[in-house]
Amino acid sequence: MKNVCVITGGGSGMGFAAAKLAGKDHYIIISGRNVEKLQSAIDELKAEGIEAEAFACDVSDFESVTRLAERAAEVGKIDAVIHSAGLSPHMGEAQKIMEVNALGTINVNEVFSAKMGKGTCILDVASTSAYMLPDEALPVSNYELSFTDKEQFIKKMVDAVKHFPEHMHSSMAYPISKNFVIWYAKKCAALYGDKGIRVVSVSPGNIETPMGKLESEEGDKFTKCCAIKRFGYAEEVAYLLTSCIDKRNGFLTGTDILCDGGLVSGMKSMKK
Ligand SMILES: NC(=O)c1ccc[n+]([C@@H]2O[C@H](COP(=O)([O-])OP(=O)(O)OC[C@H]3O[C@@H](n4cnc5c(N)ncnc54)[C@H](OP(=O)(O)O)[C@@H]3O)[C@@H](O)[C@H]2O)c1
Repeated sequence: MKNVCVITGGGSGMGFAAAKLAGKDHYIIISGRNVEKLQSAIDELKAEGIEAEAFACDVSDFESVTRLAERAAEVGKIDAVIHSAGLSPHMGEAQKIMEVNALGTINVNEVFSAKMGKGTCILDVASTSAYMLPDEALPVSNYELSFTDKEQFIKKMVDAVKHFPEHMHSSMAYPISKNFVIWYAKKCAALYGDKGIRVVSVSPGNIETPMGKLESEEGDKFTKCCAIKRFGYAEEVAYLLTSCIDKRNGFLTGTDILCDGGLVSGMKSMKK
């Protein structure tokens, strides 16, 4: 029976860096929308002696996530899920960002938790941007809808973004979707606790990945507020992600961990 770690968005950036670490003691399934794109990542993992396969999955599509989970359960025991797939402001429109980041997290947690048991962990990747908005900008009162009516939930989330000028829609959808990820991971931790599944979220700051480079203009401005005045490396976050899923962290659940070089604390002290 293989000890499986599924990594959404595992073909690049932090997900790929995490695959290299988690692959030391797991069979790795990396997923993304396009298997061909994942192939070079698989080649690199195999060259390092890691047992791995690629599986096409769009996290915003419930059926697609179900197929990924079925494949993982067929291969072995699902020990951990690192849900790193996401879209940043320059990667799509507000609706798409909400569907991938918010609905994608609901789909992943819901589908995988049904197939996981005692001593396992789901790790949802959020973002420091989730901490940057004033409370008034966050549609928190709609978050609970994620458990009862996903369609209505996404509609309300996108409507919340529409309160801002059009040119800001994508850049607001991103932090709002990630604020939801943190909230949702905490809720799931409470819900799945009895089954022995831990749920943790990690909020990276600006990290040197394909996404981080695409958003670097904004990221460069934030770097000035960090205690460590540079972008983080994918490997640094990957180390945290894989530590969180490690069984020795058996008491870690229901919390968000910032890995941002001191960005959020730096921003807060500037406001005083
Ligand atoms: N880099 C940063 O500065 C930063 C900061 C804070 C948070 N984050 C978060 O960290 C996570 C990892 O990002 P990264 O920086 O490592 O960037 P990345 O290299 O662009 O990784 C994102 C991955 O998500 C996958 N993806 C996108 N849409 C998908 C979908 N609908 N279904 C399945 N997979 C999808 C992409 O693969 P395909 O194109 O093959 O689908 C890609 O491999 C994201 O959730 C991001 O929001 C990043």
